Amino acid sequence: MTLAFSKVAIIGAGAMGRGIAQIAAQAGSQVWLFDTQAEAIQKARDAVFQQWDKLQEKGRLTAEAVAGYKSRLLAATSLQDLADCELVVEAIVEKLDIKKSLFTDLEKILAPTAVLVTNTSSLSVTAIAAALKRPGQFAGYHFFNPVPLMKVVEVIAGLKTDAAVCQRLSEFARQMGHTPVQAQDTPGFIVNHAGRGYGTEALRIVSEGIADFATIDRILRDQVGFRLGPFELFDLTALDVSHHVIEAIYHQYYEEPRYRPNVITAQRLAGGVVGKKVGEGFYKYTDGVAQLPAEPPVPVVDDMPPVWVSPRAARRMELLQLLKDLGANIESGASPSPHALTIVAPLGFDITTVAVVERLDPARTVGIDMLIDDAATKRRVLATNPATRTDMRDAAHALFARDGKAVSVIRDSGGFVTQRVVATIVNIASDMCQQRICSPEDLETAVTLGLAYPLGPLAMGNHYGPTNVLEVLFNLQTVYGDMRYRPSPWLRRRGAICLSLMHTEE
Ligand code: NAI
Repeated sequence: MTLAFSKVAIIGAGAMGRGIAQIAAQAGSQVWLFDTQAEAIQKARDAVFQQWDKLQEKGRLTAEAVAGYKSRLLAATSLQDLADCELVVEAIVEKLDIKKSLFTDLEKILAPTAVLVTNTSSLSVTAIAAALKRPGQFAGYHFFNPVPLMKVVEVIAGLKTDAAVCQRLSEFARQMGHTPVQAQDTPGFIVNHAGRGYGTEALRIVSEGIADFATIDRILRDQVGFRLGPFELFDLTALDVSHHVIEAIYHQYYEEPRYRPNVITAQRLAGGVVGKKVGEGFYKYTDGVAQLPAEPPVPVVDDMPPVWVSPRAARRMELLQLLKDLGANIESGASPSPHALTIVAPLGFDITTVAVVERLDPARTVGIDMLIDDAATKRRVLATNPATRTDMRDAAHALFARDGKAVSVIRDSGGFVTQRVVATIVNIASDMCQQRICSPEDLETAVTLGLAYPLGPLAMGNHYGPTNVLEVLFNLQTVYGDMRYRPSPWLRRRGAICLSLMHTEE
Protein backbone atom coordinates (compact mmCIF):
# COMPACT_ATOMS: atom_id res chain seq x y z
CA MET A 1 0.00 0.00 0.00
CA THR A 2 1.33 3.43 -0.90
CA LEU A 3 0.60 5.86 1.87
CA ALA A 4 -1.15 9.07 0.84
CA PHE A 5 1.20 10.89 3.21
CA SER A 6 4.32 9.17 4.51
CA LYS A 7 5.70 12.08 6.54
CA VAL A 8 3.16 13.76 8.79
CA ALA A 9 3.43 16.52 11.38
CA ILE A 10 0.91 17.01 14.17
CA ILE A 11 0.93 20.37 15.89
CA GLY A 12 -0.68 20.50 19.32
CA ALA A 13 -0.15 17.43 21.50
CA GLY A 14 -3.38 17.67 23.50
CA ALA A 15 -6.36 15.32 23.54
CA MET A 16 -6.86 15.48 19.77
CA GLY A 17 -3.26 15.78 18.53
CA ARG A 18 -2.11 12.68 20.35
CA GLY A 19 -5.01 10.63 19.01
CA ILE A 20 -4.35 11.72 15.41
CA ALA A 21 -0.63 11.02 15.89
CA GLN A 22 -1.48 7.54 17.15
CA ILE A 23 -3.58 6.50 14.16
CA ALA A 24 -1.17 8.07 11.64
CA ALA A 25 1.78 6.16 13.11
CA GLN A 26 -0.32 2.98 13.10
CA ALA A 27 -1.04 3.53 9.40
CA GLY A 28 2.70 3.50 8.72
CA SER A 29 3.54 7.20 8.44
CA GLN A 30 6.47 8.86 10.16
CA VAL A 31 4.87 11.26 12.61
CA TRP A 32 6.46 14.32 14.21
CA LEU A 33 4.61 15.74 17.16
CA PHE A 34 5.11 19.41 18.01
CA ASP A 35 3.71 21.60 20.79
CA THR A 36 4.80 24.94 22.27
CA GLN A 37 4.84 23.12 25.64
CA ALA A 38 7.71 20.64 25.38
CA GLU A 39 6.33 18.61 28.29
CA ALA A 40 3.02 18.21 26.41
CA ILE A 41 4.86 16.31 23.65
CA GLN A 42 6.47 13.99 26.19
CA LYS A 43 3.16 13.42 27.98
CA ALA A 44 1.42 12.69 24.69
CA ARG A 45 4.05 10.21 23.53
CA ASP A 46 4.00 8.48 26.93
CA ALA A 47 0.21 8.23 26.80
CA VAL A 48 0.17 6.79 23.27
CA PHE A 49 3.02 4.37 24.07
CA GLN A 50 1.03 3.19 27.09
CA GLN A 51 -2.01 2.58 24.91
CA TRP A 52 0.05 0.43 22.56
CA ASP A 53 1.66 -1.46 25.46
CA LYS A 54 -1.81 -2.21 26.85
CA LEU A 55 -3.02 -3.49 23.47
CA GLN A 56 0.08 -5.68 23.26
CA GLU A 57 -0.58 -7.07 26.77
CA LYS A 58 -4.13 -7.93 25.70
CA GLY A 59 -2.69 -9.75 22.68
CA ARG A 60 -4.31 -7.33 20.20
CA LEU A 61 -0.96 -6.09 18.88
CA THR A 62 2.32 -7.93 18.33
CA ALA A 63 5.59 -6.76 19.90
CA GLU A 64 6.95 -6.07 16.39
CA ALA A 65 3.98 -3.89 15.49
CA VAL A 66 4.29 -1.89 18.72
CA ALA A 67 8.05 -1.44 18.22
CA GLY A 68 7.37 -0.19 14.68
CA TYR A 69 4.67 2.25 15.82
CA LYS A 70 6.90 3.63 18.58
CA SER A 71 9.82 4.13 16.20
CA ARG A 72 7.55 6.21 13.95
CA LEU A 73 6.20 8.60 16.62
CA LEU A 74 8.86 11.29 16.99
CA ALA A 75 9.15 14.52 18.95
CA ALA A 76 9.92 17.74 17.07
CA THR A 77 11.70 20.56 18.87
CA SER A 78 10.81 23.38 16.49
CA LEU A 79 8.68 24.06 13.43
CA GLN A 80 11.89 23.85 11.35
CA ASP A 81 12.03 20.10 12.11
CA LEU A 82 8.83 19.71 10.07
CA ALA A 83 10.30 21.12 6.83
CA ASP A 84 10.04 17.91 4.78
CA CYS A 85 6.60 16.80 6.01
CA GLU A 86 3.96 16.21 3.33
CA LEU A 87 1.02 16.81 5.64
CA VAL A 88 0.64 19.04 8.72
CA VAL A 89 -2.37 18.52 10.97
CA GLU A 90 -3.03 21.40 13.36
CA ALA A 91 -4.78 20.63 16.66
CA ILE A 92 -3.87 23.66 18.80
CA VAL A 93 -5.99 26.10 20.77
CA GLU A 94 -9.31 27.09 19.09
CA LYS A 95 -8.37 30.72 18.30
CA LEU A 96 -8.57 32.06 14.75
CA ASP A 97 -5.62 34.49 14.97
CA ILE A 98 -3.26 31.93 16.53
CA LYS A 99 -4.17 29.30 13.94
CA LYS A 100 -3.77 31.78 11.07
CA SER A 101 -0.33 32.87 12.19
CA LEU A 102 0.81 29.26 12.69
CA PHE A 103 -0.18 28.36 9.12
CA THR A 104 1.48 31.49 7.71
CA ASP A 105 4.73 30.41 9.46
CA LEU A 106 4.35 26.83 8.22
CA GLU A 107 3.85 27.92 4.60
CA LYS A 108 7.29 29.55 4.72
CA ILE A 109 8.97 26.41 6.08
CA LEU A 110 7.28 23.60 4.14
CA ALA A 111 7.52 22.64 0.47
CA PRO A 112 4.83 24.20 -1.80
CA THR A 113 3.36 20.74 -2.36
CA ALA A 114 2.71 20.15 1.36
CA VAL A 115 -0.90 19.87 2.50
CA LEU A 116 -1.93 21.84 5.61
CA VAL A 117 -5.06 20.96 7.54
CA THR A 118 -6.90 22.17 10.64
CA ASN A 119 -8.82 20.07 13.14
CA THR A 120 -10.99 23.05 14.11
CA SER A 121 -14.53 22.22 15.14
CA SER A 122 -16.02 25.71 15.18
CA LEU A 123 -13.94 28.06 13.00
CA SER A 124 -14.31 28.59 9.28
CA VAL A 125 -11.74 26.72 7.18
CA THR A 126 -11.97 29.48 4.57
CA ALA A 127 -11.27 32.15 7.21
CA ILE A 128 -8.15 30.31 8.46
CA ALA A 129 -6.95 29.93 4.84
CA ALA A 130 -7.58 33.59 3.96
CA ALA A 131 -4.04 34.73 4.80
CA LEU A 132 -2.33 31.82 2.99
CA LYS A 133 -0.49 32.00 -0.33
CA ARG A 134 -1.66 28.50 -1.26
CA PRO A 135 -5.25 28.13 0.02
CA GLY A 136 -5.74 25.33 -2.52
CA GLN A 137 -3.43 23.16 -0.39
CA PHE A 138 -5.43 23.82 2.78
CA ALA A 139 -8.47 21.96 4.17
CA GLY A 140 -10.33 21.05 7.32
CA TYR A 141 -9.73 17.56 8.77
CA HIS A 142 -12.14 17.28 11.68
CA PHE A 143 -11.68 14.28 13.96
CA PHE A 144 -13.72 13.35 17.04
CA ASN A 145 -12.65 12.58 20.58
CA PRO A 146 -11.29 9.98 21.37
CA VAL A 147 -9.75 9.79 17.90
CA PRO A 148 -8.75 6.09 17.81
CA LEU A 149 -12.31 5.03 18.75
CA MET A 150 -14.38 7.60 16.85
CA LYS A 151 -13.74 6.28 13.38
CA VAL A 152 -15.03 9.13 11.28
CA VAL A 153 -13.35 12.28 9.98
CA GLU A 154 -14.91 15.22 8.19
CA VAL A 155 -12.86 16.42 5.22
CA ILE A 156 -13.83 20.04 4.74
CA ALA A 157 -13.27 21.98 1.56
CA GLY A 158 -12.75 25.71 2.05
CA LEU A 159 -13.72 28.06 -0.78
CA LYS A 160 -10.39 27.57 -2.53
CA THR A 161 -9.42 24.02 -1.54
CA ASP A 162 -8.35 21.82 -4.48
CA ALA A 163 -10.62 18.80 -4.91
CA ALA A 164 -7.53 16.58 -5.30
CA VAL A 165 -6.35 17.59 -1.80
CA CYS A 166 -9.67 16.43 -0.31
CA GLN A 167 -9.43 13.15 -2.20
CA ARG A 168 -5.92 12.56 -0.92
CA LEU A 169 -7.01 13.34 2.65
CA SER A 170 -9.92 10.91 2.30
CA GLU A 171 -7.57 8.21 1.09
CA PHE A 172 -5.27 8.83 4.04
CA ALA A 173 -8.24 8.68 6.43
CA ARG A 174 -9.06 5.20 5.09
CA GLN A 175 -5.43 4.15 5.48
CA MET A 176 -5.70 5.21 9.14
CA GLY A 177 -8.78 3.01 9.53
CA HIS A 178 -11.25 5.92 9.54
CA THR A 179 -14.25 6.67 7.35
CA PRO A 180 -13.96 10.03 5.59
CA VAL A 181 -17.00 12.17 4.86
CA GLN A 182 -16.88 15.27 2.63
CA ALA A 183 -18.37 18.53 3.88
CA GLN A 184 -18.66 22.08 2.64
CA ASP A 185 -17.19 24.74 4.91
CA THR A 186 -20.32 25.66 6.91
CA PRO A 187 -20.87 26.17 10.67
CA GLY A 188 -20.67 22.89 12.58
CA PHE A 189 -19.75 21.01 9.36
CA ILE A 190 -21.83 17.79 9.40
CA VAL A 191 -21.89 16.16 12.83
CA ASN A 192 -22.13 19.25 15.06
CA HIS A 193 -24.75 20.73 12.73
CA ALA A 194 -26.90 17.60 12.46
CA GLY A 195 -26.66 17.15 16.24
CA ARG A 196 -28.48 20.45 16.95
CA GLY A 197 -31.99 18.99 16.78
CA TYR A 198 -31.78 16.50 19.63
CA GLY A 199 -30.83 18.55 22.67
CA THR A 200 -32.33 21.89 21.69
CA GLU A 201 -35.82 20.48 21.05
CA ALA A 202 -35.68 18.49 24.29
CA LEU A 203 -34.76 21.71 26.14
CA ARG A 204 -37.74 23.46 24.54
CA ILE A 205 -40.06 20.72 25.79
CA VAL A 206 -38.71 21.04 29.34
CA SER A 207 -38.94 24.82 29.24
CA GLU A 208 -42.65 24.53 28.34
CA GLY A 209 -43.21 22.38 31.43
CA ILE A 210 -44.45 19.44 29.32
CA ALA A 211 -42.26 16.82 31.05
CA ASP A 212 -39.18 16.70 33.26
CA PHE A 213 -35.63 15.79 32.18
CA ALA A 214 -35.78 12.17 33.32
CA THR A 215 -39.13 11.52 31.59
CA ILE A 216 -37.87 12.95 28.30
CA ASP A 217 -34.70 10.84 28.51
CA ARG A 218 -36.76 7.70 29.18
CA ILE A 219 -39.12 8.43 26.29
CA LEU A 220 -36.37 9.02 23.73
CA ARG A 221 -34.35 6.00 24.84
CA ASP A 222 -37.34 3.66 24.88
CA GLN A 223 -39.27 4.94 21.88
CA VAL A 224 -36.53 5.83 19.42
CA GLY A 225 -33.61 3.76 20.71
CA PHE A 226 -31.14 6.55 21.50
CA ARG A 227 -28.39 5.12 23.68
CA LEU A 228 -28.44 8.21 25.91
CA GLY A 229 -31.30 10.61 26.49
CA PRO A 230 -30.56 14.25 25.57
CA PHE A 231 -30.04 15.27 29.20
CA GLU A 232 -27.78 12.30 29.93
CA LEU A 233 -25.80 13.36 26.85
CA PHE A 234 -25.61 16.99 28.03
CA ASP A 235 -24.28 15.73 31.38
CA LEU A 236 -21.62 13.65 29.64
CA THR A 237 -20.33 16.32 27.23
CA ALA A 238 -20.82 19.03 29.93
CA LEU A 239 -22.52 22.37 29.38
CA ASP A 240 -19.25 24.33 29.37
CA VAL A 241 -18.67 22.66 25.98
CA SER A 242 -22.17 22.08 24.58
CA HIS A 243 -23.83 25.39 25.48
CA HIS A 244 -21.09 27.26 23.59
CA VAL A 245 -21.48 24.98 20.56
CA ILE A 246 -25.26 25.62 20.57
CA GLU A 247 -24.73 29.38 20.76
CA ALA A 248 -21.94 29.43 18.16
CA ILE A 249 -23.94 27.60 15.50
CA TYR A 250 -27.03 29.73 16.18
CA HIS A 251 -25.09 32.98 15.71
CA GLN A 252 -23.01 31.70 12.79
CA TYR A 253 -26.28 30.93 10.99
CA TYR A 254 -27.49 34.49 11.71
CA GLU A 255 -30.04 33.54 14.36
CA GLU A 256 -31.74 30.78 12.39
CA PRO A 257 -34.70 29.79 14.65
CA ARG A 258 -34.06 26.05 14.14
CA TYR A 259 -30.89 26.33 16.26
CA ARG A 260 -32.18 28.71 18.94
CA PRO A 261 -30.44 28.12 22.30
CA ASN A 262 -32.37 27.85 25.55
CA VAL A 263 -32.03 29.78 28.81
CA ILE A 264 -31.99 26.50 30.73
CA THR A 265 -28.43 25.64 29.65
CA ALA A 266 -27.26 29.28 29.93
CA GLN A 267 -28.46 29.43 33.53
CA ARG A 268 -27.09 26.03 34.52
CA LEU A 269 -23.74 26.90 32.99
CA ALA A 270 -23.68 30.20 34.92
CA GLY A 271 -24.46 28.26 38.10
CA GLY A 272 -21.68 25.73 37.51
CA VAL A 273 -24.14 22.82 37.27
CA VAL A 274 -22.48 21.63 34.07
CA GLY A 275 -22.55 17.85 34.16
CA LYS A 276 -21.15 14.58 35.40
CA LYS A 277 -17.58 15.85 35.69
CA VAL A 278 -18.57 18.20 38.55
CA GLY A 279 -20.95 15.68 40.16
CA GLU A 280 -24.11 17.52 39.15
CA GLY A 281 -25.79 18.37 35.89
CA PHE A 282 -29.36 17.58 34.96
CA TYR A 283 -28.83 14.56 37.22
CA LYS A 284 -26.91 14.32 40.51
CA TYR A 285 -24.04 11.81 40.52
CA THR A 286 -22.93 9.63 43.40
CA ASP A 287 -19.62 7.85 42.73
CA GLY A 288 -20.05 8.72 39.06
CA VAL A 289 -23.51 7.10 38.87
CA ALA A 290 -26.56 9.21 37.94
CA GLN A 291 -29.28 9.26 40.58
CA LEU A 292 -32.44 8.68 38.56
CA PRO A 293 -35.79 9.69 40.03
CA ALA A 294 -38.27 6.79 40.35
CA GLU A 295 -40.95 6.41 37.68
CA PRO A 296 -44.44 7.51 38.76
CA PRO A 297 -46.41 4.36 39.74
CA VAL A 298 -49.24 2.99 37.59
CA PRO A 299 -52.52 4.11 39.22
CA VAL A 300 -54.94 1.46 40.47
CA VAL A 301 -58.29 1.83 38.69
CA ASP A 302 -61.15 -0.42 39.80
CA ASP A 303 -63.80 0.84 37.46
CA MET A 304 -62.39 1.05 33.93
CA PRO A 305 -64.60 3.18 31.64
CA PRO A 306 -65.40 2.15 28.06
CA VAL A 307 -63.05 3.52 25.43
CA TRP A 308 -63.82 5.40 22.22
CA VAL A 309 -61.14 6.09 19.60
CA SER A 310 -61.22 9.08 17.27
CA PRO A 311 -61.73 8.12 13.61
CA ARG A 312 -58.85 10.47 12.80
CA ALA A 313 -56.31 8.76 15.07
CA ALA A 314 -52.94 7.90 13.52
CA ARG A 315 -52.48 4.11 13.05
CA ARG A 316 -56.12 3.72 14.11
CA MET A 317 -56.44 0.03 13.24
CA GLU A 318 -53.31 -0.77 15.22
CA LEU A 319 -54.55 1.31 18.12
CA LEU A 320 -57.90 -0.51 18.15
CA GLN A 321 -56.13 -3.89 18.03
CA LEU A 322 -53.87 -2.81 20.90
CA LEU A 323 -56.88 -1.75 23.00
CA LYS A 324 -58.55 -5.08 22.24
CA ASP A 325 -55.41 -6.94 23.31
CA LEU A 326 -55.38 -4.89 26.52
CA GLY A 327 -58.96 -6.02 27.24
CA ALA A 328 -60.60 -2.63 26.79
CA ASN A 329 -64.34 -2.28 26.35
CA ILE A 330 -64.28 -0.51 22.97
CA GLU A 331 -67.20 1.63 21.82
CA SER A 332 -68.04 1.62 18.13
CA GLY A 333 -70.51 4.52 17.93
CA ALA A 334 -69.97 7.61 15.78
CA SER A 335 -69.34 9.60 18.96
CA PRO A 336 -68.31 8.63 22.50
CA SER A 337 -70.96 7.70 25.08
CA PRO A 338 -71.22 10.12 28.05
CA HIS A 339 -68.82 8.05 30.19
CA ALA A 340 -66.27 6.96 27.63
CA LEU A 341 -62.58 7.62 27.87
CA THR A 342 -61.86 9.35 24.57
CA ILE A 343 -58.57 8.56 22.85
CA VAL A 344 -57.03 10.70 20.14
CA ALA A 345 -53.70 10.16 18.37
CA PRO A 346 -52.64 13.28 16.51
CA LEU A 347 -49.48 13.96 14.53
CA GLY A 348 -48.10 17.36 15.49
CA PHE A 349 -51.33 18.78 16.90
CA ASP A 350 -51.90 19.10 20.63
CA ILE A 351 -54.72 17.31 22.44
CA THR A 352 -56.56 20.55 23.18
CA THR A 353 -56.78 21.49 19.51
CA VAL A 354 -57.92 17.99 18.53
CA ALA A 355 -60.63 17.95 21.22
CA VAL A 356 -61.92 21.33 20.05
CA VAL A 357 -61.77 20.55 16.31
CA GLU A 358 -63.36 17.11 16.70
CA ARG A 359 -65.93 18.47 19.20
CA LEU A 360 -64.93 16.00 21.91
CA ASP A 361 -65.35 16.51 25.66
CA PRO A 362 -61.84 17.68 26.70
CA ALA A 363 -62.41 16.45 30.27
CA ARG A 364 -62.45 12.86 28.98
CA THR A 365 -59.90 13.23 26.18
CA VAL A 366 -56.40 11.77 26.39
CA GLY A 367 -53.85 11.50 23.55
CA ILE A 368 -51.40 8.73 22.68
CA ASP A 369 -48.34 9.06 20.45
CA MET A 370 -48.88 6.63 17.57
CA LEU A 371 -46.07 7.86 15.30
CA ILE A 372 -44.18 4.80 16.46
CA ASP A 373 -45.30 1.24 15.82
CA ASP A 374 -46.46 -0.03 19.23
CA ALA A 375 -44.75 -3.39 18.76
CA ALA A 376 -41.44 -1.61 18.16
CA THR A 377 -41.48 0.60 21.26
CA LYS A 378 -40.73 -0.17 24.89
CA ARG A 379 -42.83 2.74 26.14
CA ARG A 380 -46.19 4.33 25.41
CA VAL A 381 -46.62 8.07 25.82
CA LEU A 382 -49.92 9.66 26.75
CA ALA A 383 -50.76 13.34 26.97
CA THR A 384 -53.55 15.13 28.81
CA ASN A 385 -55.01 18.55 28.07
CA PRO A 386 -55.62 21.23 30.72
CA ALA A 387 -59.23 20.03 31.21
CA THR A 388 -58.56 16.27 31.40
CA ARG A 389 -60.12 14.81 34.58
CA THR A 390 -57.77 12.93 36.91
CA ASP A 391 -59.93 9.79 36.79
CA MET A 392 -59.73 9.76 32.97
CA ARG A 393 -55.97 10.32 32.98
CA ASP A 394 -55.51 7.51 35.54
CA ALA A 395 -57.81 5.18 33.59
CA ALA A 396 -55.80 5.73 30.39
CA HIS A 397 -52.52 5.24 32.23
CA ALA A 398 -53.69 2.01 33.89
CA LEU A 399 -55.23 0.68 30.67
CA PHE A 400 -52.16 1.21 28.50
CA ALA A 401 -49.91 -0.27 31.23
CA ARG A 402 -52.00 -3.46 31.55
CA ASP A 403 -49.53 -5.62 29.61
CA GLY A 404 -46.59 -4.36 31.67
CA LYS A 405 -45.24 -1.92 29.07
CA ALA A 406 -43.91 1.35 30.53
CA VAL A 407 -46.20 4.37 30.21
CA SER A 408 -45.31 8.05 30.55
CA VAL A 409 -47.99 10.70 30.93
CA ILE A 410 -46.97 14.18 29.84
CA ARG A 411 -48.75 17.53 29.65
CA ASP A 412 -50.29 18.72 26.42
CA SER A 413 -47.78 19.51 23.72
CA GLY A 414 -48.00 19.69 19.98
CA GLY A 415 -46.34 16.50 18.78
CA PHE A 416 -45.64 14.75 22.11
CA VAL A 417 -41.89 14.27 22.84
CA THR A 418 -40.77 11.81 20.19
CA GLN A 419 -42.64 13.48 17.33
CA ARG A 420 -41.12 16.84 18.15
CA VAL A 421 -37.57 15.62 18.57
CA VAL A 422 -37.59 13.22 15.61
CA ALA A 423 -39.21 15.79 13.31
CA THR A 424 -36.64 18.40 14.34
CA ILE A 425 -33.70 16.06 13.72
CA VAL A 426 -35.07 14.98 10.33
CA ASN A 427 -35.85 18.56 9.34
CA ILE A 428 -32.37 19.87 10.15
CA ALA A 429 -30.74 16.95 8.28
CA SER A 430 -33.04 17.54 5.31
CA ASP A 431 -32.08 21.18 5.22
CA MET A 432 -28.39 20.22 5.27
CA CYS A 433 -29.07 18.17 2.13
CA GLN A 434 -31.01 21.06 0.63
CA GLN A 435 -27.98 23.31 1.21
CA ARG A 436 -25.74 20.64 -0.34
CA ILE A 437 -23.45 20.72 2.72
CA CYS A 438 -22.75 17.05 2.10
CA SER A 439 -24.28 14.07 0.32
CA PRO A 440 -27.17 12.26 2.05
CA GLU A 441 -24.94 9.17 2.33
CA ASP A 442 -22.14 11.08 4.05
CA LEU A 443 -24.64 12.73 6.38
CA GLU A 444 -25.93 9.32 7.48
CA THR A 445 -22.42 7.91 7.90
CA ALA A 446 -21.17 10.95 9.84
CA VAL A 447 -24.10 10.98 12.25
CA THR A 448 -24.21 7.26 12.94
CA LEU A 449 -20.43 7.13 13.55
CA GLY A 450 -20.04 10.58 15.16
CA LEU A 451 -23.17 10.70 17.32
CA ALA A 452 -24.06 7.00 17.64
CA TYR A 453 -27.73 7.59 16.76
CA PRO A 454 -29.71 4.37 16.27
CA LEU A 455 -30.40 5.44 12.68
CA GLY A 456 -29.03 8.23 10.50
CA PRO A 457 -31.41 11.23 10.51
CA LEU A 458 -32.64 10.63 6.96
CA ALA A 459 -33.13 6.91 7.61
CA MET A 460 -35.03 7.95 10.74
CA GLY A 461 -37.29 10.13 8.58
CA ASN A 462 -37.81 7.28 6.13
CA HIS A 463 -38.51 4.87 9.00
CA TYR A 464 -41.30 7.01 10.49
CA GLY A 465 -42.47 8.12 7.04
CA PRO A 466 -41.44 11.40 5.38
CA THR A 467 -45.12 12.29 4.96
CA ASN A 468 -45.80 11.74 8.68
CA VAL A 469 -42.76 13.81 9.66
CA LEU A 470 -43.92 16.55 7.30
CA GLU A 471 -47.40 16.47 8.84
CA VAL A 472 -45.91 16.74 12.33
CA LEU A 473 -43.90 19.82 11.30
CA PHE A 474 -46.77 21.58 9.53
CA ASN A 475 -48.98 21.07 12.57
CA LEU A 476 -46.26 22.06 15.05
CA GLN A 477 -45.82 25.26 13.10
CA THR A 478 -49.56 25.93 13.43
CA VAL A 479 -49.63 25.11 17.15
CA TYR A 480 -46.53 27.13 18.07
CA GLY A 481 -46.46 29.74 15.32
CA ASP A 482 -42.70 29.28 15.38
CA MET A 483 -40.47 29.36 12.30
CA ARG A 484 -38.21 26.74 13.86
CA TYR A 485 -40.73 24.10 12.72
CA ARG A 486 -41.03 25.26 9.10
CA PRO A 487 -40.22 22.23 6.96
CA SER A 488 -37.12 22.31 4.82
CA PRO A 489 -37.97 22.34 1.08
CA TRP A 490 -36.00 19.07 0.80
CA LEU A 491 -38.36 17.35 3.23
CA ARG A 492 -41.46 19.14 1.93
CA ARG A 493 -40.93 17.95 -1.65
CA ARG A 494 -39.95 14.40 -0.80
CA GLY A 495 -42.63 14.06 1.90
CA ALA A 496 -45.33 15.41 -0.42
CA ILE A 497 -44.64 12.89 -3.18
CA CYS A 498 -43.66 9.97 -0.91
CA LEU A 499 -40.01 9.81 -1.95
CA SER A 500 -37.10 8.60 0.16
CA LEU A 501 -35.28 11.41 1.95
CA MET A 502 -32.07 10.01 0.46
CA HIS A 503 -33.34 10.73 -3.06
CA THR A 504 -30.98 13.22 -4.73
CA GLU A 505 -31.92 13.38 -8.43
CA GLU A 506 -33.84 16.48 -9.42
P1 NAI B 1 -5.98 20.63 24.11
O1 NAI B 1 -6.10 21.85 24.94
O2 NAI B 1 -6.11 19.30 24.74
O3 NAI B 1 -4.55 20.68 23.36
C1 NAI B 1 -4.06 21.78 22.65
C2 NAI B 1 -2.54 21.72 22.64
O4 NAI B 1 -2.07 22.70 21.74
C3 NAI B 1 -1.90 22.01 23.99
O5 NAI B 1 -0.99 20.99 24.31
C4 NAI B 1 -1.20 23.36 23.78
O6 NAI B 1 0.01 23.46 24.51
C5 NAI B 1 -0.92 23.33 22.29
N1 NAI B 1 -0.78 24.63 21.68
C6 NAI B 1 -1.51 25.74 21.91
N2 NAI B 1 -1.10 26.73 21.10
C7 NAI B 1 -0.10 26.23 20.33
C8 NAI B 1 0.72 26.77 19.28
N3 NAI B 1 0.56 28.03 18.87
N4 NAI B 1 1.63 25.96 18.71
C9 NAI B 1 1.78 24.69 19.12
N5 NAI B 1 1.04 24.13 20.11
C10 NAI B 1 0.11 24.90 20.70
O7 NAI B 1 -7.01 20.83 22.91
P2 NAI B 1 -7.80 19.70 22.07
O8 NAI B 1 -9.04 19.33 22.79
O9 NAI B 1 -6.84 18.65 21.66
O10 NAI B 1 -8.25 20.55 20.81
C11 NAI B 1 -7.36 20.93 19.80
C12 NAI B 1 -8.14 21.39 18.58
O11 NAI B 1 -9.01 20.35 18.15
C13 NAI B 1 -9.03 22.61 18.77
O12 NAI B 1 -9.04 23.34 17.58
C14 NAI B 1 -10.38 21.99 19.05
O13 NAI B 1 -11.44 22.87 18.73
C15 NAI B 1 -10.35 20.83 18.09
N6 NAI B 1 -11.24 19.71 18.44
C16 NAI B 1 -11.38 19.29 19.73
C17 NAI B 1 -12.22 18.22 20.03
C18 NAI B 1 -12.37 17.72 21.43
O14 NAI B 1 -13.33 16.98 21.70
N7 NAI B 1 -11.50 18.06 22.36
C19 NAI B 1 -12.99 17.53 18.97
C20 NAI B 1 -12.69 18.00 17.63
C21 NAI B 1 -11.88 19.07 17.41
